[in-house]
Amino acid sequence: MRFAEQGYQLEPEALEFICSYPGSKDDLIRSIIGRMDRSVAVIRAFQVSSLLTSTDAPGALLEKSSALPCIPSSQAAAAELKCDITGRSTCVGDYDDFVRYFRDRYTKIREILSRRLNARPIESLGKSTAGREVSLIGMVMDVHTTAKGNRVIELEDPTGLIVAFVQKDAQIYEQSGNILPDEVLGVTGTSDGNGRIFVKSLLWPDIPNQTAPLEVGGGCALLLSDLHVGSKYFMDDAWQRFIQWLNGQVEDPSGLASQVKYVVIAGDLVDGIGVYPGQEGDLAIKDIYAQYEAAAERINAIRSDVSVIISPGNHDIVRQAEPQPALPETVRKYFREGGLFVGNPAWVTLGGVSVLIYHGRSIDDLVLRLPGISYAAPEKAMVEMLKRRHLSPVYGSRVSIAPEHEDHYVISRPPAILHCGHVHTVGITRYKGVAVINSGTWQSQTDFQKKMNIQPQPAVVPIVDLSTMKVRKLIF
Ligand SMILES: [Fe+2]
Repeated sequence: MRFAEQGYQLEPEALEFICSYPGSKDDLIRSIIGRMDRSVAVIRAFQVSSLLTSTDAPGALLEKSSALPCIPSSQAAAAELKCDITGRSTCVGDYDDFVRYFRDRYTKIREILSRRLNARPIESLGKSTAGREVSLIGMVMDVHTTAKGNRVIELEDPTGLIVAFVQKDAQIYEQSGNILPDEVLGVTGTSDGNGRIFVKSLLWPDIPNQTAPLEVGGGCALLLSDLHVGSKYFMDDAWQRFIQWLNGQVEDPSGLASQVKYVVIAGDLVDGIGVYPGQEGDLAIKDIYAQYEAAAERINAIRSDVSVIISPGNHDIVRQAEPQPALPETVRKYFREGGLFVGNPAWVTLGGVSVLIYHGRSIDDLVLRLPGISYAAPEKAMVEMLKRRHLSPVYGSRVSIAPEHEDHYVISRPPAILHCGHVHTVGITRYKGVAVINSGTWQSQTDFQKKMNIQPQPAVVPIVDLSTMKVRKLIF
């Protein structure tokens, strides 16, 4: 009843979950409603359980009064993995895997969109709908511009295919230039009753409007990525300055270093071997295990009370197809006890604050295909991920995504922090309450980057104060 009043439906398994909760059900229900993504129509069991696991005591969530209540800093201070692919890969890459993968992507994003759009199945757009305004939710099979400059979008749902047209002089023409292949979006327009629709408006799933931080915790987190240890361009001197600061070996009038509880590394810990032609000439350490040993030595120098979370990237020693599992034991053994090794992408919580870590390879696709998106401002590409509720909307381009039965790239609920790397530039913004951070690199400009006129921003560390979610840049 309480859920219905708020416009939610409840999956039977979710109801069972709530009924079996040992604490105050009233508090639990209020917590769920307060924290639930407003664009969700049906509350599922896994969403209830993930809310329960993201906080020890749901009642404590109610102490603050924002629409999405905050987690007090007294909550568990540990870094915890909530979800990644490690040990859960199911795909063998056959036809059925692809069908299941795309169906999962469609279903999850349709659920988000259907709360704001009264869409009908494509198969129902027959002759009786000619001349009428209709809405549908489809996956983009193809999008192209005709010789006359009109935009043609082929959309598919599980019931059929339709062709959507945006005329060159239409108001939404510019907006339609942002449509990406393989993404799921809502379309409203006039049906011709014959498999075509003339588009009046487009709707991306996006995240709910929210200005306050989604969650807060305690202490500070340093966000790093792309160390590229083993490369002759790895900036060891800057790294040593960073360690000295973090470990309190240099004067720190702000006292900031002592507040650091977490260091998160979003991939490319080492430079790897054979990642690109001619890489050998760029390597100071040519053996990948020796690269990890050197990386571990540098990570192990971090103050022992700081939790280190390591996620892989495309230079690391895991499968290249994403989602990538956590680093294997063969290299973990070099690292000190207590580190948290997670996959790519991975959902983690830092003392209750949710962080979605993704190395960020899809930024290459977004820069290539979206107007106004560039390597100089990677945070803009990351905002596009949030708008599309997907970390890597374009399938089969720069990112090779294994067709797992579940699409691990759908952003089912907004994280408090979205953390990427990969592009070696620093970008920080806030988008609808989410701290969006790309964490740069520890590798100076390579010859290749010089030729391509790519300006990296090395040895710059974003620091997030988890009690206010304010982000600053530290330069080493
Ligand atoms: Fe990378």
